[in-house]
Amino acid sequence: MANHEILRMLIDTHCHYNHPQMNQNQSDVPDTLQRARLAGVKAHIVVGYDLESSRRAVALADKYSDIAAAVGLHPHDASEWSTEFESLIYSWANNPNVVAIGEIGLDYYRNLSPKDKQQEVFKRQLDLAEHVQLPVIIHCREAYDDALGILNRESVKKLGGVMHCWAGEPEQALATVRLGMFLGIGGTSTYVKATNVHASIEATPLDCLLFETDAPYLTPMPFRGKRNEPSYLPLVAERVAELKRVPVSSAQASVWNNSVRCFPRLQCITEASL
Ligand code: NI
Repeated sequence: MANHEILRMLIDTHCHYNHPQMNQNQSDVPDTLQRARLAGVKAHIVVGYDLESSRRAVALADKYSDIAAAVGLHPHDASEWSTEFESLIYSWANNPNVVAIGEIGLDYYRNLSPKDKQQEVFKRQLDLAEHVQLPVIIHCREAYDDALGILNRESVKKLGGVMHCWAGEPEQALATVRLGMFLGIGGTSTYVKATNVHASIEATPLDCLLFETDAPYLTPMPFRGKRNEPSYLPLVAERVAELKRVPVSSAQASVWNNSVRCFPRLQCITEASL
């Protein structure tokens, strides 16, 4: 049979079906989800970034069997941290469809909240992740050294997580992996100028990488300029396979296992999808 199609088995470990840009009309989420399924994306983690988006992530995970949720407060909004939000995260974490705390971290590129507030709220949410025994999804922009310093703690080494949308240098990639964390590789890996991302992928063992789209952001080539969506995830898998010089099918199989190792609660979803 002259069928060279690769059987696709992918997990989008970071996307935002909870984002207004992915909810432009009533059929937007179901249509986008259907295109992702046809492209071989078997499971998605919809990641919250504030109270409302975390609430929507949980609602989507409760509605769709191939969606899981993460809940947390993005560093941009660190100033909005409240005890109300904290107790909501605790209660959401009891839901088996919630697989991680995130996205949390530091963003010194835009500095939309003061640095000291970002660090305080980041640490509070790491404590919280430790209490509920969940891995973390980290957003880090121009703050790798501070973020790696804060992440250097026993709970992170035990529970793990991912440094999402990897944009650092190879040495920082190896420091991240030494903490027991994964690198989340997305659409930037397909950009010609993202040489530090390419070098990081080459320097990091395949069993420390995850795939993600971060949709609606960071659309891979050749669709850059359009809204991103999880159905473009195979483009990331193909680029990573090329950089690691392995067949796409083996890159997919390794990264699938990595995703379940990183987020143990994903196992129910992935077993049901096979
Ligand atoms: Ni994100």
